[in-house]
Amino acid sequence: MPTKKLKVEAIEQGTVIDHIPAGVGIKILQFFELSQTSERVTVGLNLKTQSGESKDLIKLENIELTREQSNQIALFAETATINVIRDYEVVDKFSVRLPESIYGILACPNGNCISHDEPVSSRFYVRSKDNLRLKCHYCEKEFRWQWFSDLSR
Ligand code: CTP
Repeated sequence: MPTKKLKVEAIEQGTVIDHIPAGVGIKILQFFELSQTSERVTVGLNLKTQSGESKDLIKLENIELTREQSNQIALFAETATINVIRDYEVVDKFSVRLPESIYGILACPNGNCISHDEPVSSRFYVRSKDNLRLKCHYCEKEFRWQWFSDLSR
């Protein structure tokens, strides 16, 4: 029987971000600026899984994400898995986990927050893991994740 499995070429070294809900891959790519590299980045959108659902997938050649970077992806895609590839083999595979706090990558939606005036890195505490909300360390206000994910950087 002919195999119909190959959808996106295997990579030699790097990271595969897999099992991203369909429609979320582009958001992750943009938010984390994953295409801001001279390395090859391959994006698969609406790939069919074995269970017949659709998923997105991002392959970053010659780039290994840190655990912190990987877990930040959970803000967008709690189902994502990270595969570390070396010599064409998956040498590490793990599910992303929402971090307890988020440093530096988000600006506080509160325009009056002191974090905008001081040379400090933003800092948010992840308050609710079911209905994601983030609490700013500086102004102590809580915001729904929607506030951040809708803002383009
Ligand atoms: N992959 C790749 N290059 C490689 C090895 C794997 O791009 N050299 C990709 C595969 O295409 C897949 C992901 O990395 O999207 C994980 O690979 P693997 O664990 O072999 O696939 P599955 O068993 O299907 O993974 P899972 O059970 O996590 O769905």
